[in-house]
Amino acid sequence: MTRPELVIKGRVLMGNEAQTICIGIVDGKITVMGKDLDGDEFLDYSKYLIMPGGIDIHTHMRDPGFTDKEDFNTGTMAAAFGGTTTILDMPNTKPMVTTTQQLKDKLDIIEKKANVDYGLYASLTPDSNIKELKELAVGFKLFMAETTSAIPISEDEIRDVLVDPELDGQVVSVHAESPERFRDIEVTDLTTHDDSRPASAEVVAVDTITQMKTSAIMHFAHLTDLMSFEKAFGYSNEITPHHMLLSTSNVHGTKGKVNPPLRNIREQASLFTAFVKAQVGIVASDHAPHTVGEKILPFGEAPSGLPGVETRLPMMLALVQSEQVSLGLVQATCCHNPAKLFSLPKGQIDVGFDADLSIFDMNKTTKIEGDKLHSKCGWTPFEGYNAIFPEHVFLGGEEIISDGELVRKGKGKKI
Ligand code: DOR
Ligand code: ZN
Repeated sequence: MTRPELVIKGRVLMGNEAQTICIGIVDGKITVMGKDLDGDEFLDYSKYLIMPGGIDIHTHMRDPGFTDKEDFNTGTMAAAFGGTTTILDMPNTKPMVTTTQQLKDKLDIIEKKANVDYGLYASLTPDSNIKELKELAVGFKLFMAETTSAIPISEDEIRDVLVDPELDGQVVSVHAESPERFRDIEVTDLTTHDDSRPASAEVVAVDTITQMKTSAIMHFAHLTDLMSFEKAFGYSNEITPHHMLLSTSNVHGTKGKVNPPLRNIREQASLFTAFVKAQVGIVASDHAPHTVGEKILPFGEAPSGLPGVETRLPMMLALVQSEQVSLGLVQATCCHNPAKLFSLPKGQIDVGFDADLSIFDMNKTTKIEGDKLHSKCGWTPFEGYNAIFPEHVFLGGEEIISDGELVRKGKGKKI
């Protein structure tokens, strides 16, 4: 067997228990694991927790077209600082990614800016050339309702496009809100925003999609209501940290304006309980940065969306440290299940998997401060929340974050 180029020793979750173990790495892959290993280079992090690098399957990195909000360099830097080594980027950039040429152009633009591994979604429209797009895209995004820079397609169009056999085995991430259920009321705060796009619009949308015929793998993004999770039973589902931790009453103004909206505190608490009880498959950030200048507009005019790629995993680990959730659950929802959905050789510390590793000192809980984060937008809805940020991050066996510094830039590859 090839001698490891690098051995990293630390505490790794094995079954239900963290054990001190050595991880041997050759050519960016984990090739051997054991109690004691020898390698060309040896890093002893015995006191630290080693996690698989996080995988965030729902981000909006804004490049190209909206680079005043974020670009692929700053967005993926923020991911790296939060221990996330793979991000999947949504297609509502400018131009919207609907054609193969637009996808190719976007890939060219971002290629050298990526600090973590990445995949791009293409938007699913009635005219999509699915056969071509699926060669380059990681999956498809389906918008059922209007939201920031996104063009929704109608129910009839969705029904027609989903039966295309070219979608067989492809992941389709659904923004499930039925616009017919929206209420035309004046929106002045988080509660009226919630009332205008009520949870029932989501429940109906999920129900509608589950009754359609398709051989695609349907994934329901950012669900906000327990009934939606029930309706989506048997399908892949996702929750965001903001929907399970923030409500219309514990965050104020446009910082909490997002689609689907934050719900009231009772519904938010029930979502958190569902997460703790392992009824949720994937935690994704829906990182959707907007500038401070845009967010200080009057409520009705301010864009929807909030940043979260850097805080997702660190906040989940703070919940582990305060014994509110188990480490196994966080690893499953932030690393393993996302990798499984997209058949990636990632999200698990085991022989044959990519050596994407995030290393945490679990005794170092800090408070989130927006101006210390790395997204270009410079603010967070989670100001003051507890988090544990990584000390070291490895991408394909190479250290990219070391003691709070990005030490290698542009190492991200298309998955
Ligand atoms: O609030 C949202 N913002 N919801 C979306 O679906 C899109 C996102 C954005 O891109 O800003
Ligand atoms: Zn989104």
